[in-house]
Amino acid sequence: MKGIILAGGSGTRLSPLTKVTSKQLLPIYNKPMIYYPLETLMQGGITEILIITAPDRAGDFLRFLGSGKELGVKFTYEIQDNPEGLPQAFTIGENFIGDDSVALILGDNIFEDDFSEQIKAFKSGGQVFAKKVPDPERFGVIKFNEANVAEKIVEKPKEHLSDYAVTGLYLYDNRVVEAAKNLAKSARGEYEIVDLHNFYLHKGELTVSTVSGAWLDAGTFDSLLAANLLIAKREGSQVLL
Ligand code: G1P
Repeated sequence: MKGIILAGGSGTRLSPLTKVTSKQLLPIYNKPMIYYPLETLMQGGITEILIITAPDRAGDFLRFLGSGKELGVKFTYEIQDNPEGLPQAFTIGENFIGDDSVALILGDNIFEDDFSEQIKAFKSGGQVFAKKVPDPERFGVIKFNEANVAEKIVEKPKEHLSDYAVTGLYLYDNRVVEAAKNLAKSARGEYEIVDLHNFYLHKGELTVSTVSGAWLDAGTFDSLLAANLLIAKREGSQVLL
């Protein structure tokens, strides 16, 4: 399985911090943010990793991550010229993915869980990871039926569908590349990752697993602070006492 870290976008919700650097390079305690989603992929045994960045920030990522040799992995870099949605990761990454399946992780997602079992056991279809959150309207949300089976997934729903957000780690088989190419833009003018989840869900080939440990999408000031506190605690910082 190949890995992709999507670290593009302009990070407008974190302006003015993102006027001077990329969101995914902001510090989370003692490391740039992208280190944590990278760690999640490496824990899963993934060694070929594509980093997708905004055009004006690519050099900063290269300076931090380099070839990957020191970490025992191989990085490839691609540019996302216009941020028009997460599924672009699969069209930009088409040549890199080749005939393999792929794990996409968002460059601002920080997980406490170790997903190595699920990554190593993945065979085909799609797999997403859900987490109960107090603010589901910020995310893709999974609606379950009475039998607790996923019924549909909606991006940032206005009405309350459930408390379960889809987190930013996705495992897909190779069909995702064609599926991403065939997507239409949503009403907000973007290609939506939930349309890819629903592509597999409608075929009965989407597995929904739950996330047991902490999960943060560090894309807002509050979640950025929470991510710093989570990692500071993990690293044994005394500042929290
Ligand atoms: C994106 C996805 C959303 C997902 C979230 C996880 O939202 O569109 O489905 O739940 O990542 O972090 P964004 O953070 O880009 O608004």
